[in-house]
Amino acid sequence: MPIEYRAERHRWLLSTTNTAYAIQLTEQGQLLHLYYGAKLPFETDYPAPPAEGRLASFHAGRYTWLAEISLPTGIFDTEPVLRPIFADGTRDLRLRYLTHEITETELLIRLQDEHYGLEVGLRYRVWADCDLISRRVELHNRGESPITFEEILSGSLPLPHDRDDFRLTHLAGAWASEYQLEQTPLTSGRKVIDGRLLNSGHANSPFFALDIDATENSGEVWFGGLEWSGNWKIVIEQAHQPYKFTRIAAGLNDYDFSWWLEAGQSFETPWLTLGYTGGGFGQMSRNLHRYQLDHLLPPAFAHDIRPVLYNSWEAVFFAVNEADQLALAEKAARLGVEIFVMDDGWFGQRDSDRAGLGDWHPSPTKFPNGLQPLIEKVKALGMQFGLWVEPEMVNPDSDLYRAHPDWVYHFPNREPTTGRNQLILNLARPDVEAWMFDWLDKLLGEHDISYIKWDYNRSVSEPGWPAARPEQQREIWVRHTQALYRIVDKLRQNHPQVLFEACSGGGGRTGLGALAHFDHMHTSDNTDPLDRLPIQLGYSLVYAPKTMYTWVTHTDFNQAKYSMRYRFLSAFMGSLCLATNLHHWSEAEMDEAARYIAEYKGVRAIVQNGTFYRLSPLTDPENLAVQYLSEDQQRGMILAYQRREHFWNNPTRLKLSGLEPTARYHLSGDLAEGEPAHLSGQALMQYGLMPKLEGYHDCALINIEKG
Ligand code: DGJ
Repeated sequence: MPIEYRAERHRWLLSTTNTAYAIQLTEQGQLLHLYYGAKLPFETDYPAPPAEGRLASFHAGRYTWLAEISLPTGIFDTEPVLRPIFADGTRDLRLRYLTHEITETELLIRLQDEHYGLEVGLRYRVWADCDLISRRVELHNRGESPITFEEILSGSLPLPHDRDDFRLTHLAGAWASEYQLEQTPLTSGRKVIDGRLLNSGHANSPFFALDIDATENSGEVWFGGLEWSGNWKIVIEQAHQPYKFTRIAAGLNDYDFSWWLEAGQSFETPWLTLGYTGGGFGQMSRNLHRYQLDHLLPPAFAHDIRPVLYNSWEAVFFAVNEADQLALAEKAARLGVEIFVMDDGWFGQRDSDRAGLGDWHPSPTKFPNGLQPLIEKVKALGMQFGLWVEPEMVNPDSDLYRAHPDWVYHFPNREPTTGRNQLILNLARPDVEAWMFDWLDKLLGEHDISYIKWDYNRSVSEPGWPAARPEQQREIWVRHTQALYRIVDKLRQNHPQVLFEACSGGGGRTGLGALAHFDHMHTSDNTDPLDRLPIQLGYSLVYAPKTMYTWVTHTDFNQAKYSMRYRFLSAFMGSLCLATNLHHWSEAEMDEAARYIAEYKGVRAIVQNGTFYRLSPLTDPENLAVQYLSEDQQRGMILAYQRREHFWNNPTRLKLSGLEPTARYHLSGDLAEGEPAHLSGQALMQYGLMPKLEGYHDCALINIEKG
């Protein structure tokens, strides 16, 4: 039973295969969090609430720190999940238990303010097979006056209160260096990681993990990700000795935020998906990856094999036209590419980033007969066709902006700041949402398009909405992302054959939120393999390898003169994409590339739908090694990379994971000299194998087969 209620103790127990989460209602009507950790044999094993005890009059009581939902009430020093202002100015929330509902996999606990007509629902979804629990808050204004909220989070979670030796892990970065690992011991105070944008941002990923001495394969980790790719915040707070309390709170960012809830209206927060494992960071990643494949991704393509893709951007930038794209497509088809995606530059006056955004009709000079002739020729070559769009943006030099200057975010009496010569369309406006859906729906209805790369290329500024009532203006942060998700969902309904990629100058829209609506995320604009490997490693901490298109290009930021093999094998870590100018490749290079693509097709089912293991420590991208195991566990693949060689840097043996100890495995590929071709699962996991890695920028691919 994933969800049980013990009436005699007013206790709810949520169980997954290996974890349990317990909540209790006290006699005084407080909802306390009892436990989140490894599943215990008996229901009675879960601890009773500690005595509230006495704290000094300067501090919140113990139950404030152990509350299932932190509230702004009494003396409190924790991050509140909700900050309402009632019509009479009261800024204090006292929730009392009303009822609860339990279904097969969901629990809803309904609470009600003791005086005002605000009902708060705490909804939990149990993903038993992935050892995860998703939570959100549902607000209903059952009173007669509006309620303003200055903060609405998705939930909060106390961590075991006898520990204060947690380490925080999160992903930080910047444009072209996304998902860099950050690890820091947690100290007392409040640490916030957040995004104050209309996209999730390159600087931080909406994810956290708190561990106690965890490694890749062992140790306790509590972790979570927000299913929201707009404004977000995660607060990790710890009380100093002697109290040793640690809490997490996460949800919509309260920066410049307010939400006006009219009488009779409701509001649902994004889901916050939480997990616990005793199996270290590796198990954490696998639970999150499985959740994405089995539950989160739009189901249409979640388990499909992703086509090998070609993207025109780094080959020609804005210089696209029918003849040149066709010439590239012919070469791509020869290589075994399965979907040809034309990137930026195909519409309006878009010859550079200075004009044309917003005018979504094929450029009359580049495509005088529209897109259909190119699409038909690409299809005749045996490939599908995909297209780049950036629907939320407009260049001031465009017909759209000249017709609707009021459609962009702006403040009156302030010059709007451009970024990449563009402004952001105000998607909170229903007329902009309707326009955006209509032209995309028409584009997909009139053309045989199988892939949309949805880009977003600047950060927000002047987030004003002068046409709205003042109390509504600061809702844009939420309304924008809600409208974006609605549009994509409706397009998917009308055009179920289309795969959607979320891109924002690379990984600026990455997150579990985007993955609930899009099939892929563009990992990074940095396609230099040396930089890309740590980016991909960080990505793998949270997001499934299948969801990243990993690009093979000619980019050489580090002037390292990589071999074609190094470029391709770095891209084997996810779904394979080619994005180089194929005219620059010799016949011999074309043949070599075709061989890698064929090789990738032979292993991609394992990479995309299999189980992923990191064989090297997260902290060592210099000697990165990963393993994939097929769904039926019969086949596997190892990828190992050596960034550079030192005299003293002896390659390490790779200890494999997830194998059947007494089964025999056949090994082939880049094994060091003298390595045996057959070993038991136990030998491979205990003693491991040595890949053949020699010199700078070398890489190894080793196939494993059971039997
Ligand atoms: C940023 C994306 O990340 C690139 O791949 C490319 O699509 C450009 N935008 C096009 O403007």
